[in-house]
Amino acid sequence: MSYLSLQNLRKDYGGKIFAVDDVSLAIEKGEFVTFLGPSGSGKTTTLMMIAGFEQPTSGHIALAGRAIDPVPPHKRNIGVVFQNYALFPHMSVARNVGFPLRMRGVPKAEIAARVARLLAIVELGAFADAEPRRLSGGQQQRVALARALVFEPDVLLLDEPLGALDKNLREQMQIEIRRIHRELGVTTIYVTHDQTEAMTMSDRIVVFNGGKVEQVDAPLALYRRPNTPFVAGFVGDNNVLDATHAGGGRIELPGVGPIAAALPSDCPTGPLKIALRPESIRLAAGSDAPAFTVQGIVNYGDSVVLVGALGTVPLKIRLPAVAASNLTVGQILRIEWSPDAVHVIGTAR
Ligand SMILES: Nc1ncnc2c1ncn2[C@@H]1O[C@H](COP(=O)(O)OP(=O)(O)OP(=O)(O)O)[C@@H](O)[C@H]1O
Ligand SMILES: [Mg+2]
Repeated sequence: MSYLSLQNLRKDYGGKIFAVDDVSLAIEKGEFVTFLGPSGSGKTTTLMMIAGFEQPTSGHIALAGRAIDPVPPHKRNIGVVFQNYALFPHMSVARNVGFPLRMRGVPKAEIAARVARLLAIVELGAFADAEPRRLSGGQQQRVALARALVFEPDVLLLDEPLGALDKNLREQMQIEIRRIHRELGVTTIYVTHDQTEAMTMSDRIVVFNGGKVEQVDAPLALYRRPNTPFVAGFVGDNNVLDATHAGGGRIELPGVGPIAAALPSDCPTGPLKIALRPESIRLAAGSDAPAFTVQGIVNYGDSVVLVGALGTVPLKIRLPAVAASNLTVGQILRIEWSPDAVHVIGTAR
């Protein structure tokens, strides 16, 4: 029995499709799980149903073995932080953090002690008496985090908490949030649009698309073995290609011919989709390797992405900048990749 369990959750707002469409998830105690997915894919709605701010149209939620469907939000013992950290502007930092405890009727002395502890954890002890507007965005976000943690929630829900911050502050806060998670061990669900953030922070990632869960996996597994073309294209940069398994482990690309690929033994024959990461393709020395026509060059500083075609098949290649310094649009290059780099979507390898 998992700690937090979502069973066939649905939310119908009356739109063309369900905002959340039959989502089932099992989250373990202490896990750090990230919801990743495009805008409108149902991440916030799922979080709102866990928090109790939205009622599911159907389905159930259980926490620590107990159905929480009838339990109102303030009795679920779930901490929530939203993107636009709504701190109370007229309250000091310490009073903001202590607010959930005052609501719960915790004695004054204990409130003071717990607020002091949380402010130490988010490293804002020196700001206890400050008004929120005197704080930077990152500091305000840490106050919101302390306020969501001060009542020792069973589950912490963070909905794009770093969306408003610049890159450096974001990275700093990512480290803070992970550290706090390690120190307190609270089961955490984190929502983000940012793939790198999802990859670096999570024990597991849940990929949402159109209200449904496409895949749940550890970051590297998700990256290496996407189960669906959507996940293959959404998580990291990828080439998702139509191919044919002609039998005997031979993969062909239409208009190109056979290509190097190590296929899983259970690979079905017939049409399939394969994924080939741009960075796993390199320039080949021989003249019999597949020919790639360069149609565009995008320079990222440390690496270069070549946009072009392998025969008639659109393909992206990422090369280290040093290997691409002399390339020009229109050039024809010979390319290769390790057979292991080809992933047949939907198989275990
Ligand atoms: N209160 C509401 N009333 C009607 N429709 C809603 C409501 N809230 C969300 N929706 C719809 O439900 C779908 C899922 O929205 P949701 O906010 O869960 O997406 P999201 O994955 O959090 O997106 P984003 O990344 O943009 O925050 C969307 O189509 C949205 O328009
Ligand atoms: Mg959202």
